[in-house]
Amino acid sequence: MDDKTNKDFVVIKAEDDGVNVIGLTRGTDTRFHHSEKLDAGEVMIAQFTEHTSAIKIRGKAKIYTPFGVVESEAKRADK
Ligand code: TRP
Repeated sequence: MDDKTNKDFVVIKAEDDGVNVIGLTRGTDTRFHHSEKLDAGEVMIAQFTEHTSAIKIRGKAKIYTPFGVVESEAKRADK
């Protein structure tokens, strides 16, 4: 298995309905190539691959990474 697809993965657990997991392309052109919608409690396990260099999470979720756990937050209505 290629190095890029080895241990570079994250686990995303949605804490609200409608959390978006967006994959961004690798290479000179950085653009969205995939969007996955998760409802509360749903889990996605995603890797960084030859095609995916970055992952954007929109909405409230817990993200388990090799560096630790981070929480994304829902956009605040008053901002
Ligand atoms: N076809 C994509 C790829 O191989 C699938 C994918 C991998 C993906 N990791 C992702 C999509 C993260 C969204 C987010 O790269």
